[in-house]
Amino acid sequence: MADKTSGRTPLMAGNWKMNLNHQEAVVLVQKLAWTLADKRHDYSAVEVAIFPPYTDIRSVQTLIDADRIPIKYGAQNVSTRENGAYTGEVSASMLAKLGCSYVIVGHSERREHYGETDEWVALKAKIALKHGMTPIVCVGEGLAQRREGNHLGFCTDQVDRSLGGLTATEVAGIVIAYEPVWAIGTGETATPQDAEEVCAGIRQQIETSYGGPAADSVRILYGGSVKPNNVAALMTEPDIDGALVGGASLHVDDFAAICRYYDLPVL
Ligand code: PGA
Repeated sequence: MADKTSGRTPLMAGNWKMNLNHQEAVVLVQKLAWTLADKRHDYSAVEVAIFPPYTDIRSVQTLIDADRIPIKYGAQNVSTRENGAYTGEVSASMLAKLGCSYVIVGHSERREHYGETDEWVALKAKIALKHGMTPIVCVGEGLAQRREGNHLGFCTDQVDRSLGGLTATEVAGIVIAYEPVWAIGTGETATPQDAEEVCAGIRQQIETSYGGPAADSVRILYGGSVKPNNVAALMTEPDIDGALVGGASLHVDDFAAICRYYDLPVL
């Protein structure tokens, strides 16, 4: 069983990115639910959430509702706008209506390829909360900052700006994902100590800006080439409350193993 003593429920979040159509999504969710049911996964001990592309969400909702599958789901992005003439955008109210529990905001791929700024990320976090969804706010340094040794300051500045306008109570309930850009999709994982250094620094920053209760309850995930062979060691760190998993979340056996990290050896 999960041996976390922080009182924060670990969260394993699978970010599918731009992969799998709605039919493939249904197959993957069914297989994941069966695999975890087989092992009698306790979803209240380790929460499981998936992030399909927008076009899959309605099908995922229908399946999860019909079969009462205790897997949560969310979107990979959301508009900063409520509604109106914003071609191509998808609103928070639309996602809430589809039963999304979470929204990923500020993923490094959106920051890098679509020019998302911290200010936009803060607006997205705010609008997700307004519509009853939990934002997963992503931050993380690039290779340059890591080489300069400025990674911690870079990430805590990003956290400060990306949470701008949220109250301490709101911050207590959100999720932050620390994803060093150099470790995403590269097979390079930060060592558990590297990841813990930044996750602990982020928690410290939350304490300074929002107070102890918010710092104690905010969940901080690590992301970047998380696999069954490295998740258990990452999860032994006191400030790492789960993982944001990209590539491995597309493989049912790998993602199910990650969700059950406490059965895996610490390598
Ligand atoms: P990865 O992606 O696990 O494929 O490195 C993580 C992410 O981008 O969230």
